[in-house]
Amino acid sequence: MENQKRYGHFDDQHREYVITDPQTPWPWINYLGNEDFFSLISNTAGGYSFYKDAKFRRITRYRYNNVPMDNGGRYFYIKDGDTVWNPGWKPCKTPLDFYECRHGMSYTRITGRKNGVEASVLFFVPLKKWCEVQKLTLKNESAETKTLKLFSFEEWCLWNAATDMENFQRNFSTGEVEIEGSTIYHKTEYRERRNHYAFYHVNAEIQGFDTDRETFVGLYNEFADPQVVMEGKPRNSHAHGWSPIASHYIEVTLKPGESKDFVFLLGYIENEQDEKFEAPQVINKKKAHALIAELDTTEKVDKAFAELNAYWDALLNIYNVKTGNDKLDRMVNIWNQYQCMVTFNFSRSASFFESGIGRGMGFRDSNQDLVGFVHQIPSRARQRIIDIASTQFPDGGCYHQYQPLTKRGNNDIGGGFNDDPCWLIFGTVAYIKETGDFSILDEMVPFDNQPGSEVTLFEHLKISMDHVINNLGPHLLPLIGRADWNDCLNLNCFSWDPNESFQTTENVSEGTKAESLMIAGLFVVTGKDYVALCKKIGKDAEAVRMQKAIDAMIEAVKKHGWDGEWYLRAYDFYGRKIGSNECDEAKIFIESQGWCTMAEIGADEGMVAKSLDSCKKYLECEHGMVLNNPAFTKYIYEYGEISSYPEGYKENAGIFCHNNPWVIIGECLAGRGNDAWSHYAKILPSYVEEKYQTLHKVEPYVNCQMVAGKDAFKPGEGKNSWLTGTAAWMWYTVSEFILGIKPDYDGIRIDPCLPETATDYTVSRKFRDAEYTITIHPNGQQKGVRSIVLDGSPVDGTVVPYAPGRHTVEVTM
Ligand code: GLC
Ligand code: GLC
Repeated sequence: MENQKRYGHFDDQHREYVITDPQTPWPWINYLGNEDFFSLISNTAGGYSFYKDAKFRRITRYRYNNVPMDNGGRYFYIKDGDTVWNPGWKPCKTPLDFYECRHGMSYTRITGRKNGVEASVLFFVPLKKWCEVQKLTLKNESAETKTLKLFSFEEWCLWNAATDMENFQRNFSTGEVEIEGSTIYHKTEYRERRNHYAFYHVNAEIQGFDTDRETFVGLYNEFADPQVVMEGKPRNSHAHGWSPIASHYIEVTLKPGESKDFVFLLGYIENEQDEKFEAPQVINKKKAHALIAELDTTEKVDKAFAELNAYWDALLNIYNVKTGNDKLDRMVNIWNQYQCMVTFNFSRSASFFESGIGRGMGFRDSNQDLVGFVHQIPSRARQRIIDIASTQFPDGGCYHQYQPLTKRGNNDIGGGFNDDPCWLIFGTVAYIKETGDFSILDEMVPFDNQPGSEVTLFEHLKISMDHVINNLGPHLLPLIGRADWNDCLNLNCFSWDPNESFQTTENVSEGTKAESLMIAGLFVVTGKDYVALCKKIGKDAEAVRMQKAIDAMIEAVKKHGWDGEWYLRAYDFYGRKIGSNECDEAKIFIESQGWCTMAEIGADEGMVAKSLDSCKKYLECEHGMVLNNPAFTKYIYEYGEISSYPEGYKENAGIFCHNNPWVIIGECLAGRGNDAWSHYAKILPSYVEEKYQTLHKVEPYVNCQMVAGKDAFKPGEGKNSWLTGTAAWMWYTVSEFILGIKPDYDGIRIDPCLPETATDYTVSRKFRDAEYTITIHPNGQQKGVRSIVLDGSPVDGTVVPYAPGRHTVEVTM
């Protein structure tokens, strides 16, 4: 059966996914870099690099959605007699005798073999350095001496990835390079307002180079047959305008059994304004020389690589579980945490589905991402909270996105997404519970980045809550604004103009009655956290005030938000129900089931249980839970983008993986461990990997945003991998609600919710200055902790108190 074809497998010991066939159903990518310098790399070495911001500082060029797919990258051409091949198969696509790509934690190793030669390239970005290392090892495995011609290749992007693709009347005249020894410098626009350049270096003598694309590739050739490579002769071209590239040419002779390393370095440099030039028109290369000197030998590179591995050892040691179920352990201990780092770094900006020019950092997205990451590097999470809060407005509303380079709110998209403010509480509370650092609440944080407007972060949280309270509709439920979490439920948009963006258009909102049950649930969940926080820091009056608002919201949901078998989704502009049995289509939506069950609204009246049952009955399918059911079959002017998608895709009844965990947490709080687990396993990549590599299409080691739903043409087909809130939510769900290890202000709360088949497991958890080894004995129970023994003494309740040092905890359910 076609669906059984496999393209790779997990190697848990090395924390790698091993791809054994280059022709994966879609490029399967990895991310390099953890802080400032980043690269995307596919299993055939496609992709690109950028500094901090994929739009404004794109270093190398990439062609999205091209033919063939995945066009552009770092390519090594090896010419061995008449055969030209690449270690990663592309772009020449010469059949290889062996191919393997190992995607690991912030590195990728691609190995190819052809006619007795092995070429293995290790790609990574060293910690704290602004460069990508490409260590190429060539090995002669044949019985004869081999003389090879090696050509490297990178294509420069003219920095701004957006104008790079459109402003050709200018671009074709601005390109400039310098060549010095084995280093090719890209300095377009450096003569004027830029103070940064890039370079591509190799730690070997070169016998030639090219920097002009037309010369190297040939105007009518392709990356698969660049004319210089085919002729086996560099032209030493010097780019003036057009499209600058960087290609080194090296002649390599290898005796039988001999191997040689070449360290290629793609670097990025910024100079001070008054130190830009070393001579008129000549860039100051001091910093480049220094960077090169740090990585110019195999030993130095290996050391930097060992440091990177040690860094990941430490990060992945903070939370580690042993359940004996490999498929669970590898996701919890390796891939889910890895994906959380990636989403924290990139928000939704740059993947093979996000072009890096459309979106910066999302306000709601980044707060959610933080919850998956805060245990890894709390100090970075802290800075992120301050950055995000700095884009808020004085009334509690906020910019929906900001640019990572400038940290400024993005005016093109603006604000008006009424769920946004609540997420700031979600993120901040997670940070304080992880660290115990209440001082963040006293940080002075501006509005809209305006100096002089600073108030405390706590004040920002307060106005976030107030923003909901000040924007209630006729049923005393939150007004939705442009949209809530679901960017596509555009109830004030009313658009017949295909040139209008659903996200930014609000054609009518005066007199709107459009209210959101999703925000209502979110308000109650984050509100409870806010109240607990207020009590914790002695703001009792504020706690009382907010509790009243929460109680009122709960009443409003029970009264106006319940449809009989599930929670309504919203009220439209005119005050008509959305997500009701009375509707023709989309009778039930997942978001309000998730948030209202997490908020436990109406639990005593049976609402929670009924809602969860309805999710199973109407939303669940083989591949997860769909967003709404039945799907919309026509465009509804009053609803906006949600009804623009064909049935079963994206927000119209796709399996939007991001929101499945909300229902799973609802299940956990209700103590229904079997149901929680079965929902969870359906979207857990390692379970999907085992069964559906071809159908699923995208990377099997990470979650994707959307899997086609049951109404789609091809249910189970995944899209939009990597950058999705699913990563953080899967992590939050499994670590805190299923395995039940939940950071709290005064310690760790232990409250698992498991399938009754679960067996004993152990979690090692570093927490502030302590380390807990927690063994859980489920005894066939789905929920309910019977006893906790800490270092030999029984503990009252379910919170293991925080105390520095090492501790052993035994938990019996
Ligand atoms: C995308 C957006 C996210 C939104 C979701 C649902 O994933 O990044 O902000 O909540 O779609 O529309
Ligand atoms: C589209 C997508 C949605 C995404 C939004 C962000 O509406 O369907 O998932 O959040 O664009 O711009």
